[in-house]
Amino acid sequence: MPNLNYDFTGRTVIITGAAQGIGLEVGRFFQSAGAATFLVDYDGEAVQAAAAQLGATGIRADVSNTDDVERAVKAAVEATGRIDIIVNNAGILRDTVLWKMTDEDWEQVLAIHAGGTFKFTRAAVPYFREQNFGRIVNVTSYTGLHGNTGQANYATAKAGIIGLTKTSAKELARFGVTVNAISPNAKTRMVASIPDDKMAYLVAQIPMGRFAEAEEMAAAIGFLASDEAGYITGTVLPVDGGISM
Ligand SMILES: NC(=O)c1ccc[n+]([C@@H]2O[C@H](COP(=O)([O-])OP(=O)(O)OC[C@H]3O[C@@H](n4cnc5c(N)ncnc54)[C@H](O)[C@@H]3O)[C@@H](O)[C@H]2O)c1
Repeated sequence: MPNLNYDFTGRTVIITGAAQGIGLEVGRFFQSAGAATFLVDYDGEAVQAAAAQLGATGIRADVSNTDDVERAVKAAVEATGRIDIIVNNAGILRDTVLWKMTDEDWEQVLAIHAGGTFKFTRAAVPYFREQNFGRIVNVTSYTGLHGNTGQANYATAKAGIIGLTKTSAKELARFGVTVNAISPNAKTRMVASIPDDKMAYLVAQIPMGRFAEAEEMAAAIGFLASDEAGYITGTVLPVDGGISM
């Protein structure tokens, strides 16, 4: 884990899609930095195992389901009295060229990425307003800015997250809330499904010559969620080894 000396003692954080990959490593970072850390995932068994591993709290919830989202935020508030940070990271891929893409492929990807990000943001706002403090870090993608063959659904959802980040940043600034996004590039299960030849091509495009480890995303997310980053809002920070230059 990066040696980051952030102190999140007294802060409550929810990370979605935290049973594995980037979310799990972000959870590890916040837990070790003293936050009351709530891991959310729709894989109930995996999220409880992840939470037990970190000493955090696991919540089974589907980010595209309004009742699940409201329940997850309430659980964190009931346990700690507050909610300070939401990391909207949960995601899926349903890749295929658009002429083969089903309505379900389209709707699921939008509902989870863009819908989940919207629903968690909306659920946290009443508490953020009361506290006059909040941090939201969304997870978008290079694909959201540039498009990618086979990812019409994902590109649309990730571009939507950028619009949502900027709009919620504008709406919530007056309540002491910042909303930012990162655009990652990390070696996770999501990337493992990319065929070898395409992977070699992708790595060749990255100036740093490699994909990041998932834990390297925690540095950027931790910074954007810190008290010290209170004047940074509405940004999309590429954490991508320079591929988007
Ligand atoms: N890995 C990369 O290089 C990369 C690049 C760009 C963007 N991203 C984004 O980063 C985020 C995390 O990706 P990852 O690589 O760690 O993926 P991952 O597949 O390893 O983890 C995603 C997690 O989200 C959970 N999830 C999926 N749908 C959910 C739902 N409806 N409700 C709750 N949980 C749900 C999964 O169970 C899983 O644990 C995603 O939003 C992804 O689009 C990743």
